[in-house]
Amino acid sequence: MVASPIPTIFFGYAELRAAAAELINQRFSDTLLQKKSFVLGCATGSTPEGVYTDLVKILQTQPLDETRLSTVNLDEYYPIQRTNPHSYHNWMLRTLWKPLATIDARFDYHDQAIIPMGEAPDPQREAKRYEQKIRAWGGVDLQILGIGENGHIAFNEPGSAKDSRTRLVTLTDSTRQANAKFFGGDVSAVPKQAITMGIATILEAKEILVMVSGKQKADIMKKIFSSQEPTPDIPATFLMTHPRVQWYLDAAAASRLP
Ligand code: F6R
Repeated sequence: MVASPIPTIFFGYAELRAAAAELINQRFSDTLLQKKSFVLGCATGSTPEGVYTDLVKILQTQPLDETRLSTVNLDEYYPIQRTNPHSYHNWMLRTLWKPLATIDARFDYHDQAIIPMGEAPDPQREAKRYEQKIRAWGGVDLQILGIGENGHIAFNEPGSAKDSRTRLVTLTDSTRQANAKFFGGDVSAVPKQAITMGIATILEAKEILVMVSGKQKADIMKKIFSSQEPTPDIPATFLMTHPRVQWYLDAAAASRLP
């Protein structure tokens, strides 16, 4: 049996996103004090969007050395062209990479940011290359995570194994439905597959920050926090085996916690 984590509960998303941005900034500054570089593991989607906006605001007023910052993304649809406005590559460019380069022109996202290539001709090979690249960068210092309504982390859908690595996966219908809002509401436009970091890859991060907002996540939060043991049926339960995870929930997401 694993001990249930103790979540930090915020009044609403505004407070959650501000605190998450502050934590990232804090970890980045601490790493710089140790004269090291900082690798931020990035999620995409509704939950981290405001966090990145708030982080950019903080860095605008107190710029750090952005040459020592790298970002590693969790996942990308497959197949998708990086220039497609719906690709996570494009989303990252708009939401974080270009704003960071505006603050510090030395932040070169061509060299300092990676995301699986949704246009790679051989997705298995791309997955292997991606794992090697993360390792070559010394691993992720702080991994930001959101949670799917079905308990997925990254695109590790229910049934994913604890020892899974970066690979090509098939998205569930519920995940495609949930993400249709990013494709103008058209579920048929949501790609059927993705390249995602595996559970084992995610658990190798030195620290993890899980952010969950909204009443649509209340049921899955209840299930996760009631689980006695990690189970592939709810991939997020594997996070309970990690020694350094923080859970930031807003009151709506926490409304059904046991
Ligand atoms: C996105 C990702 C997904 C999302 C999850 C929650 O890179 O890996 O696991 O974090 O689907 O998405 P939102 O935040 O849109 O509810």
